[in-house]
Amino acid sequence: MAFRSPLLNVMTAAAQKAARGLVRDLGELEHLQVSKKGPADYVSKADHRAEGILRAELTKARPTYGLLMEESGAVAGSDTSNRWVVDPLDGTTNFLHGIPHFSISIALERDGEPFAGVVYSPVHDEMYVAEKGLGAFLNGRRLRVSARRSIDEALFATGIPFRGIPDHELFLRQLEAVMKVSAGVRRYGSAALDLAYVAAGRYDGYWENGLSPWDVAAGIVLVREAGGFVTDLAGGRRMLHGGGILAANSSIHPELQRIVVAAAKAEAAATPKEAHDPAAPPG
Ligand code: IPD
Ligand code: CA
Ligand code: CA
Repeated sequence: MAFRSPLLNVMTAAAQKAARGLVRDLGELEHLQVSKKGPADYVSKADHRAEGILRAELTKARPTYGLLMEESGAVAGSDTSNRWVVDPLDGTTNFLHGIPHFSISIALERDGEPFAGVVYSPVHDEMYVAEKGLGAFLNGRRLRVSARRSIDEALFATGIPFRGIPDHELFLRQLEAVMKVSAGVRRYGSAALDLAYVAAGRYDGYWENGLSPWDVAAGIVLVREAGGFVTDLAGGRRMLHGGGILAANSSIHPELQRIVVAAAKAEAAATPKEAHDPAAPPG
């Protein structure tokens, strides 16, 4: 697949190269020919190998750019405007369990803002790409967010916090509120693909608490370039900095945000104050 943009060509070629290894590793995992240390150790090695390939390819093509990668952290570049933001395997738990829903997510951040994004689902051979001002595409086909206007027909995606992740009660309140008024909520397990599916109009909206820049940076460009809205949960711009994320078409976004904010207020009101205020005196 060739794109008009040299940047997207670099990003998709890197994703395809890393994906070949991941697909091979998934096949091994399914045959249970894993190391003595067990599947988790095996998956972590697959993850690191994929990241190594992405780092090598992206650095070869743009040697001056900085890097922020999930496994190896941040490396400053001599070009301080451009930085790759990479999750080599988004959907690790699915991968570990042999569930074929995971992705490689590569974003280019320019002057602190997501500028281009590639999300690749190797098992389905779905390559989602977007660059600021050029639109969003799936395997070369132009993407638009869904046109659904009413929340009662809308299908949402989210992420469920698990062991070690905070705010389980807050999430349950959000989920209860959204499921009562919508056509359904899905939890597929790859934030990057959740955003890509919003861009493709498959989901009408998506929200998740927390998350890291590499989970969402590429997906943000996809949704915006497909005509959608992306904010943090409060309606602001802290999506890359722990503020949660809320993405939807322009009709559904305000309503979804209203519901999520109301759920957060209800949760705060129901929780004893000291749980929220570490400075509060004991007792
Ligand atoms: C995870 C996935 C998942 C989200 C998690 C992320 P990982 O990324 O995006 O959908 O709910 O919070 O950490 O760990 O598979 O790269
Ligand atoms: Ca991730
Ligand atoms: Ca990951």
